[in-house]
Amino acid sequence: MQIDISETPVLQTYQWLVSLVTPRPIAWVTTQSATGIVNLAPFSFYNTFGANPPVVVFSPVLTQTGGKKDTLSNIEQTGEFVIHAATQRDVQAINASSAMVPSEESEVELLGLKTVRSQRVAVPRLADVPFAMECRLRQIVPIGDGPISANLVIGEVLMIHVDEAILGKDGKVDPLKLSAVARLGGDYWCSSTDLFEIKRPG
Ligand SMILES: Cc1cc2nc3c(=O)[nH]c(=O)nc-3n(C[C@H](O)[C@H](O)[C@H](O)COP(=O)(O)O)c2cc1C
Repeated sequence: MQIDISETPVLQTYQWLVSLVTPRPIAWVTTQSATGIVNLAPFSFYNTFGANPPVVVFSPVLTQTGGKKDTLSNIEQTGEFVIHAATQRDVQAINASSAMVPSEESEVELLGLKTVRSQRVAVPRLADVPFAMECRLRQIVPIGDGPISANLVIGEVLMIHVDEAILGKDGKVDPLKLSAVARLGGDYWCSSTDLFEIKRPG
């Protein structure tokens, strides 16, 4: 079969994309409103794109009614955010933090999660997670202006906090210890436990 995007409703296009482009890593993101409310939400339109300077991009899309998510509004106002590890241990909290919650309420408080001060940004970071990356906004690139349209939030990583418990004897991240989770289509998630190694060609 073929899917001609020009003849496909937006919601169906979204469902095709998120079922086909998989697995997608998850950014678990704290932001802070101008009035100091700490927001937490997961985003699987996410990846890293270079290291000099270190760059991450994620996309809080516009809602189905064309509105901005709190994460996007907060970053527009403050220019800062923190990305946290999305791991098997926290999968229920990650999912729960995606609930629609009024802007005046904090998902961090509702879920009873602990935060600590960040060093380079004013946005607090989650305590007790395997890693957290303090980021400063470089640019927001909106692509489209209708429902489910992208907003590429391009951030520069300023500081990475790593729990040494996820490191192997060689001092590198052990994927089994990190135990990252990722999103597939529908309500499916996957974990990073079935691993294999391939050496890159010279
Ligand atoms: C695992 C997971 C991944 C998600 N990925 C995205 C995403 O990439 N972009 C997006 O706009 N919403 C995504 N969502 C939905 C948002 O988390 C949800 O709309 C949330 O309420 C946004 O919170 P905010 O309004 O506090 O920013 C995802 C939800 C889950 C559970």
